Parts: sequence; structure tokens; C-alpha cells
Amino acid sequence: MEPIKKKNNMIILGLGHFVPEDVLTNKQLEQMVDTTDEWITTRTGIKARRIAKKGVACSDLAYNASQNALDNAKLDPIDITHIIVGTFTSDYCAPATACILQAKLGSKKCEMAIDIAAGCSGFTYGLELARGIIANKPEAKVLVVGSEVCTSRLNFKDRNTCVLFGDGAGAAILTGHREGYPHVIDIELKTIGELGHLLMVGLEGGSAEPFVVGQRVSEKYFAHMKGREVFKHAVRNMTEISERILKKNNLTSQDVDLFIPHQANYRIIEAVAKKINLPMEKVFVNVHKYGNTSAASIILALSEAYSYGKIQKGDLVLLATFGAGFTVASVIIKF
Ligand code: ACO
Repeated sequence: MEPIKKKNNMIILGLGHFVPEDVLTNKQLEQMVDTTDEWITTRTGIKARRIAKKGVACSDLAYNASQNALDNAKLDPIDITHIIVGTFTSDYCAPATACILQAKLGSKKCEMAIDIAAGCSGFTYGLELARGIIANKPEAKVLVVGSEVCTSRLNFKDRNTCVLFGDGAGAAILTGHREGYPHVIDIELKTIGELGHLLMVGLEGGSAEPFVVGQRVSEKYFAHMKGREVFKHAVRNMTEISERILKKNNLTSQDVDLFIPHQANYRIIEAVAKKINLPMEKVFVNVHKYGNTSAASIILALSEAYSYGKIQKGDLVLLATFGAGFTVASVIIKF
């Protein structure tokens, strides 16, 4: 194997994650909608998901995950210069959840705080923005967060969607090159807007179909998905973008120590791993505990895998995400 060439100089100073304490099990869902634990388990691998209490917003989960990342990085909120939040369940349309998070953290030296609407790829798209910022300002300390209160956009009368998602958040702090830290080797991205209609949230309430005062929310406000179609495109695109980033960096799946794919469905994860020739022992899975936490999924899994000691110094970790848009991304990190 040829030595890995440095494509950029972005390193990870700290990782963090947070999930709400309330658990919603498949058994409990059986009481709420026409479904069974057996159906959910065999079709998705999901056994439970975490649910934010009423009044707990995206920025609250983001705050807890960010504090965890700051503690792990031994940094103070004042050190943060840029905040990027990937989410489809922002606190409000405006201001951005990233600005609310900046105020909650007290990151008074923050230059820029923005949200990214890239569905489940929000965190990985955020890493690409961080890479651009750090290329220009290597001293920047960029906080990239994936945070979701997915349950705020679920119709608990629709069994096609409500059993799949959960709430949670993850965060990473990145800066310019330093020796001895995990190094982001490369990032690959793809967007397939032509297929966006297969997975949509908020068919009403946006500028395409605005609310009028007094209008009651209908089911169109919540998540809608053509599950089988999404499944097919998720497998195809996560496979293709994983193979592409490995090839570009003169690597093969044999070089990967841990594969962390978007946690949407165990069968999607298994199919992608098989196609890229990775045994399941090299794949990190937490979808059974949390369901699909959208933009939080990949960073929640990465931070959890690291905190569980599943990633050792020197390990090569491959991430792959797929989300509403469609948005697709892969990332290689050398720990
Ligand atoms: N409980 C019981 N039955 C259900 C449920 C449920 N919760 N949900 C759907 N069904 C029924 C449907 O009504 C349908 O019944 P019908 O055949 O009588 O019409 C049947 O089950 C659907 O069966 P399949 O299409 O064979 O189900 P499939 O094996 O495709 O699994 C699933 C459905 C789980 C949605 C799967 O397609 C999937 O996971 N797709 C990807 C979804 C996803 O991960 N989206 C997000 C990825 S991108 C992102 O994270 C933003």
C-alpha cells in the first residue's frame, strides 16, 4: 500500500454526543400505531429510540453534545471561532440553531454560526465546510454539530415513518494540523436533487405552500418517504461513494479498521458492508438503540465508537452518509 498523501490539514480536537434519557421501545409503539416489535426489528434492526421531552429543542441537544466535545478537547466555549449545525429540525426558521447554540455556549469570539439543511448528511457536509474554513484559517476552532429532534417532525399516526426515527446529537471540534491528533484524510460529496421528492419533510409550512394564520397542521407538515426507493438509493450511493473515496486515496476496504455508516436501517448497513467487502465485525452499529437520528446519526456513532474504545490510535475509519436531498458523503479519518 502506498503511504497516504495528506490532502488537507484538518484534525479532530474532540468528539462528543448526547441523547435524551427517555426511551421509546417498539413494544410501546405497538400501543400507538398498527405495528409490531417483530416487523420493526426484522425490517430495520431498530429496537428502541430516544425521545426529547416536550420543550427540549434541537439547540438543547446540540448544547449538551457540544459541551461533551469541549470537555473531551479540554477547550472552553470562548475558543470556538465557527459553529456549523446540521439539522432538519431547527428550533425555528430564523434565527439559525447555530446562532442559538453560540449564545447558549457563550462562544463570544465566534465569527460565523450557520445551519446546514442536508438531511442525514448534515454533519458530513459540515465537515467539508470546516475543511474550507481551516484551509483559509488554520488556527480556527470549528464546532461541527449534528442535532435532531426528529420526533418533532414525525406523524405518530403514520407507521411508515414514525417507527424509524429518534432524537440525539453529536459534535466534533476541528482545527488546523497538529501532530498526534486524528486527521481527516479526505471527504467526498454528492448531491442528487432530482430524487429529492422521495424523502420530504414539510410539504406545507414552507414558502412553497405557506401556512395562513389559524390553519391547522395537516399530515403534510411531517416526514414523508417512499421507503423502498430510499432504501435502494441509500445502498447504491453509500456503496459508490465509499468505493470512490477509498480508490482516490489508494486504499482498499482491507485498509479500513472500522466502517461507520449512517444508522438508518440495519439491512442498509449490512448490504453496503457486503458490497464494499467489509465483514460486520468491522462495522459499528448503534441503530438498534437510537433508530435513525438523521444528521446526528454519523457523529453520534463516531463519538460513541470512540468513547467505547472501538477506535484505537492509528486506526483508519471510513464514514458514509445518505440523506434527504438526496445528499451523499464519505469521509476517511486516520486516528
Ligand atoms: N409496521 C407494520 N407494517 C408496516 C410498517 C410498520 N411500522 N411500516 C410499513 N408497513 C407495511 C406497509 O404498509 C406495507 O404494507 P403493504 O405491503 O400491505 O402495503 C409493507 O409494510 C411494506 O413492506 P416493504 O415495502 O416490503 O417494507 P421494506 O422491507 O421495504 O421496509 C422500510 C420498509 C423499513 C421503510 C425500508 O424500506 C427502509 O428502511 N427504507 C429506508 C428508509 C430510510 O432509512 N430512510 C431514511 C434514510 S435517509 C435518511 O436517513 C434521511
